[in-house]
Amino acid sequence: MLANKPKTKILVDGGDPNETLRIKNLIGFVDGQTTNPSLIAKNPEIQQLIASGHTLSSAEEKNEYKRIVQSISPLVGDAGVSIEVFADLNTIAEEMLTQGQEMSSWIPNAYIKYPCTHEGLRAAQMSVQRNIRVNMTLCFSQEQAAAVYAATKGSKQPVYVSPFVGRLDDYGEDGMDLVRNIKKMYEHSDGHVHVLAASIRSVNHLLCSFALSAELATVPSKVLEEWAATSSPMPDLNFRYRGVDGSGKALKAIPYKELDLNLPWQSFNIAHELTTKGIQKFVADYRSTLRR
Ligand code: E4P
Repeated sequence: MLANKPKTKILVDGGDPNETLRIKNLIGFVDGQTTNPSLIAKNPEIQQLIASGHTLSSAEEKNEYKRIVQSISPLVGDAGVSIEVFADLNTIAEEMLTQGQEMSSWIPNAYIKYPCTHEGLRAAQMSVQRNIRVNMTLCFSQEQAAAVYAATKGSKQPVYVSPFVGRLDDYGEDGMDLVRNIKKMYEHSDGHVHVLAASIRSVNHLLCSFALSAELATVPSKVLEEWAATSSPMPDLNFRYRGVDGSGKALKAIPYKELDLNLPWQSFNIAHELTTKGIQKFVADYRSTLRR
């Protein structure tokens, strides 16, 4: 166990129980886990099935997903296991909710992932009213995070919102700015939404998530191994983060916006092309495992 466990809860971003166990043995704890359709498609046993020519029916795929999260569930702490509903751009909230209700019965510590879209937010609103824990994924803007807050107000359990840092970096914008802006926006809120820094690609992203006091960070095993290999550093007072692209050029800063969290969630402009692209990618990865 680390001498100074970070205040930010650490989740493994993956789809393989053996990997979660390996990280737990390496750093002494794992607070939680996030999964998504792309990560499940990469699970070694699913890959093996596909390599042997056995593609899955959608019922088999669901059973595999269930089996994977049931193996991960007892390995992690109180940040739970996030399970993502299968949603394309036409999936309506009621369909997401039906899946969410079933998935949350798989394990006692489930968080159901819905996308930051109009239908995803509607599903989240209905879910929190039914005491289902939610993690709002594919968050790329402060407006989306404001809508998450407003749609889930009154939730008895913490709601997670997942800003995707690395994908914003890839888009040329400084993804850590979004984490900073959401934290600032929630500063004087009722605190029911916790910020889960996601799409973490480097130890520097992780250290910056600690420095910004993100409540949680979900991190690929590769980055956690790198962090552990350098004696699990924590950011000190001199820690400064500068988002740069592959060639070292500074990424575009994301300015803070004054948004009123008391407005109805439908009033925020939640459209973002990366959310749309993200859904399309999850659908494609999910379909790649299915029998045609
Ligand atoms: C979070 O819940 C997602 O699973 C994840 O962080 C996505 O990261 P990626 O951009 O590396 O796919």
